[in-house]
Amino acid sequence: KFPDFVKIVEVGPRDGLQNEKEMVPTEIKIQLIDMLSQTGLSVIEATSFVSSKWVMQMADHNEVLTGINKSPHVRYPVLTPNIQGFQAAVEAGAAEVAVFGSASETFSRKNINCSVEESMHRFEQVICAARQACIPVRGYVSCALGCPYEGQVHPAQVTKVAKRLHELGCYEVSLGDTTGMGTAGSMAAMLRAVMAEVPIHALAVHCHDTYGQALANILTALQMGVSVVDSSVAGLGGCPYAEGASGNVSTEDVVYMLHGLGIQTGVDLAKVIEAGDFICRALKRPTNSKVSQATSRS
Ligand code: HMG
Ligand code: MG
Repeated sequence: KFPDFVKIVEVGPRDGLQNEKEMVPTEIKIQLIDMLSQTGLSVIEATSFVSSKWVMQMADHNEVLTGINKSPHVRYPVLTPNIQGFQAAVEAGAAEVAVFGSASETFSRKNINCSVEESMHRFEQVICAARQACIPVRGYVSCALGCPYEGQVHPAQVTKVAKRLHELGCYEVSLGDTTGMGTAGSMAAMLRAVMAEVPIHALAVHCHDTYGQALANILTALQMGVSVVDSSVAGLGGCPYAEGASGNVSTEDVVYMLHGLGIQTGVDLAKVIEAGDFICRALKRPTNSKVSQATSRS
């Protein structure tokens, strides 16, 4: 049985834009988030408080977070890899943050320059400080269905990291198919393992569509009881430390599928398509959303 309601976590302004080679003007990022705030989405990941030497595109995090029109109905989490990022985020007015770990040792080193174990110590510091400030923390597990450097990742490794993040105090753990190499089969196997240790209501899936498997993988996760799905408007994106990874599954396509299943999302598809059109025009790029392509043709 499918869930009645699925919460969509829009990651376009962060995951979608972080990989853009040319700096996207801050005003465009702000306008994109403001448009998304009007669509009924309840969570929009706005930016990252990471090192600008690592991800230049997110260097305007202060301006973005303070420049947007925050809707009282929307939460705007930001990525914080360490206590330095957390403090900067709080100073800029962040009311929710996310830490991002990895099921793969090599990806952890490439992405955040430390081992998985060291990352957990950093996250513990962030979560501890966040608890004192009453700031909820989301957690990510990258490479949940494969690693760009190590290939296959065993479900037990994913479970270990997801469980640790949940125990540390992450209210939700998003399982990231960073490379998009997962299939409905590997998604089911991974989820079965993770679900045995982390309650299903605390799990989200975060699928990249590099291999065209994202919707099938999400459908599988929904069938297994997952009710939180990450997606990116117009299917923008990729990770700068996972070469060749394409965008997240598009929000438009996820909403279309969910509504087709009779699952409520609270999201107005037409308005998301408009926001997608806006950002694609600004980036001079065609959309990666099939639904948007199909509806703009007619
Ligand atoms: P490091 O170089 O090891 O850091 O990077 P450090 O602690 O040695 O400090 C070096 C310099 O960075 C210092 O500056 C620090 O002040 C500065 P300097 O003295 O040289 O001028 N620094 C910072 N500056 C701003 N914000 C900070 C910060 N921390 C230190 N928070 C670090 C370690 C974690 C900072 C770095 O590796 C980093 O920023 N990595 C982020 C990479 C990233 O953003 N990747 C993409 C997001 S993850 C993703 O996309 C996957 C996901 O979507 C899920 C999925 O799809 O699987 C979430
Ligand atoms: Mg991602």
